[in-house]
Amino acid sequence: MSRTAASILALAALLATSLASGDPAADVHATLVAKLAAGDYSRRGADLCLTCHDEEEPFPTAAVFETLHGHPHVAGSPFAQGSAAAYPAGLQCEACHGPVGEHGRRILRDGAAREPIVNFGQRGNAAADLQNQLCLACHADYGRARWAGSTHEQAGLACADCHRVHAAVDAVRSRNGQASQCVGCHASVGADMLKTSSHPMRRNQLICRDCHDPHGGEALLRDSAGNEACTRCHAELRGPFLWEHAPAAEDCGICHEPHGANQPALLVRRAPQLCQACHSSVGHRSWPQLPSSPAEPRAEFLFANACLNCHAQVHGSNHPSGNLLRR
Ligand code: HEC
Ligand code: HEC
Ligand code: HEC
Ligand code: HEC
Ligand code: HEC
Ligand code: HEC
Ligand code: HEC
Ligand code: HEC
Ligand code: HEC
Ligand code: HEC
Repeated sequence: MSRTAASILALAALLATSLASGDPAADVHATLVAKLAAGDYSRRGADLCLTCHDEEEPFPTAAVFETLHGHPHVAGSPFAQGSAAAYPAGLQCEACHGPVGEHGRRILRDGAAREPIVNFGQRGNAAADLQNQLCLACHADYGRARWAGSTHEQAGLACADCHRVHAAVDAVRSRNGQASQCVGCHASVGADMLKTSSHPMRRNQLICRDCHDPHGGEALLRDSAGNEACTRCHAELRGPFLWEHAPAAEDCGICHEPHGANQPALLVRRAPQLCQACHSSVGHRSWPQLPSSPAEPRAEFLFANACLNCHAQVHGSNHPSGNLLRR
């Protein structure tokens, strides 16, 4: 038996002891765990399942054959054949749904319920952990290396909360379908995208995945946290600069929202308030020289670009005399 098979069984045993109770959902779960341990796979594979789960059913299943999972020549896939198949590959539908056991019986005893089989996603009947182990039996690869302990794993998400396996197109992996899948749970990010200034996410030129790794990492970011999350694309602002502006070298997030803001350039606040959160105007060299309008004393500080009228290089400067971020 392979190592992954052994780890599924170890997990199954653990869950079986913790979930034996009178609660019907727990009973179903315990049955599924026992079935995984027993490993009573069908000899007929998909041919058996498809006698009942055909395209007339409320949940059509055959679109799986339009994906890599359904392809006999993809090494390690559920439908892999011959030498391309090593447990659990080649078990077909049961590679994911677990052993059929008595589930596929044509005739049931009077009043008897059909034995359950593992289901995923919205109507999932097994704990997220167990569902995920079935996927991870094949996908505990580099892409999922940071899944354990990630925010999504800790929040109890299942792989199937995002991925549609029985669909020709897995929306969450498609450029045009991803945002709506993520925003379904992250409504506030959807709202940010609609603010006056935002990353070009509304038409999916930029998608969540360009910055985030939903499978793990600090704050689920693709890059190690910090400014790399921004400077991978905005490379001209990476520095180091001859004259650094301390907050820009430290964290772009001090001044910018990542998704959207009602200030220009995704700013958390407008200048001058943005700058005045750290810099006092008192004693500013040019202050006494500035003309004062009747309505607003020292209005140049406030008009239009405010501080940026003079200190235009807020991200740092490479000009020999750029020490005050003015050029
Ligand atoms: C790669 C893993 C995988 C394979 C292979 C697979 N399934 Fe599924 N199946 C799922 C997931 C995940 C769901 C949950 C629904 C979804 O994500 O769209 C599901 C849902 C279902 C359901 C829906 C039950 C319901 O009404 O909620 C049925 C029935 C089903 N699969 C049957 C099959 C059959 C028959 C096969 C083989 C032809 C098969 N599955 C192959 C992963 C798989
Ligand atoms: C004899 C018909 C029949 C066969 C064969 C059969 N199923 Fe089912 N299956 C059903 C019925 C009926 C349901 C609805 C269950 C209910 O209403 O209690 C179901 C439900 C399911 C569900 C939803 C979870 C559950 O337990 O309710 C999944 C997933 C599923 N089947 C997968 C499979 C797979 C995979 C195979 C082949 C290994 C298979 N089925 C073989 C009739 C069958
Ligand atoms: C028997 C092994 C096996 C199981 C079980 C399995 N997969 Fe896969 N899966 C593969 C292989 C092989 C591929 C294609 C090569 C690759 O991308 O690694 C694949 C590809 C994928 C892809 C990318 C498809 C593409 O077109 O690039 C996703 C997403 C995925 N699987 C999700 C899942 C989910 C979710 C589950 C559990 C419900 C699951 N897999 C269960 C073997 C498996
Ligand atoms: C929060 C949503 C989400 C969850 C939960 C999730 N995924 Fe993904 N997955 C994605 C997105 C988005 C992509 C596309 C990433 C890309 O474009 O590179 C993806 C890509 C993949 C791929 C194909 C590309 C690759 O990285 O190899 C596989 C395989 C995969 N996921 C498997 C899984 C498995 C297994 C789980 C559960 C342990 C899981 N995913 C959980 C959103 C999710
Ligand atoms: C331009 C890069 C970028 C894009 C595109 C992006 N994000 Fe983010 N996101 C970030 C950064 C940076 C953070 C802050 C991380 C931290 O410092 O905690 C963040 C934080 C988050 C958070 C946690 C804080 C919060 O605001 O709730 C969620 C949830 C989130 N992003 C979801 C999404 C979703 C969903 C999408 C796609 C619709 C998306 N992000 C697109 C960069 C991005
Ligand atoms: C089924 C619901 C669901 C879906 C779908 C979903 N998430 Fe999440 N996400 C969560 C939960 C729950 C958390 C935990 C924090 C919270 O409660 O907001 C979370 C947290 C996050 C965080 C914050 C991470 C941190 O450590 O601060 C980011 C970023 C994020 N998700 C991005 C995404 C992206 C990108 C997608 C789409 C590929 C996505 N999510 C899809 C439920 C979901
Ligand atoms: C995946 C690439 C990518 C990443 C990562 C990225 N951006 Fe952007 N950013 C863009 C693109 C594309 C635009 C639009 C450029 C344009 O319109 O010329 C943009 C525009 C902007 C703008 C100008 C918005 C406006 O309304 O004028 C700001 C500010 C910005 N990004 C800040 C950030 C910050 C802060 C981060 C890190 C949280 C970040 N970006 C990460 C690609 C990225
Ligand atoms: C001290 C506050 C502050 C910090 C920190 C900061 N920015 Fe900015 N950023 C601004 C202001 C103010 C503007 C508007 C500039 C303008 O209107 O001319 C801006 C504009 C931008 C723009 C729009 C295009 C441009 O260059 O004018 C991008 C992209 C950008 N910032 C990215 C970043 C990145 C990446 C970081 C981190 C390395 C960062 N910012 C850190 C204040 C800041
Ligand atoms: C989070 C706090 C913070 C914010 C917000 C901030 N700064 Fe700074 N700024 C600093 C720090 C710290 C220094 C370095 C001071 C030092 O070296 O004495 C600095 C240096 C400067 C300098 C160079 C002064 C010198 O003595 O070298 C200028 C000019 C400046 N900032 C302008 C701005 C402008 C304009 C804004 C608004 C767009 C702004 N700052 C926003 C913290 C901030
Ligand atoms: C009319 C142009 C102008 C405007 C507008 C302006 N500054 Fe300055 N700032 C200067 C000049 C010139 C100096 C250099 C004075 C010197 O040589 O000592 C300076 C110096 C500074 C310094 C360095 C420390 C100091 O006081 O000498 C900081 C910090 C600073 N400005 C922040 C700001 C902030 C914050 C704003 C907006 C509220 C702002 N400035 C608006 C021209 C301007």
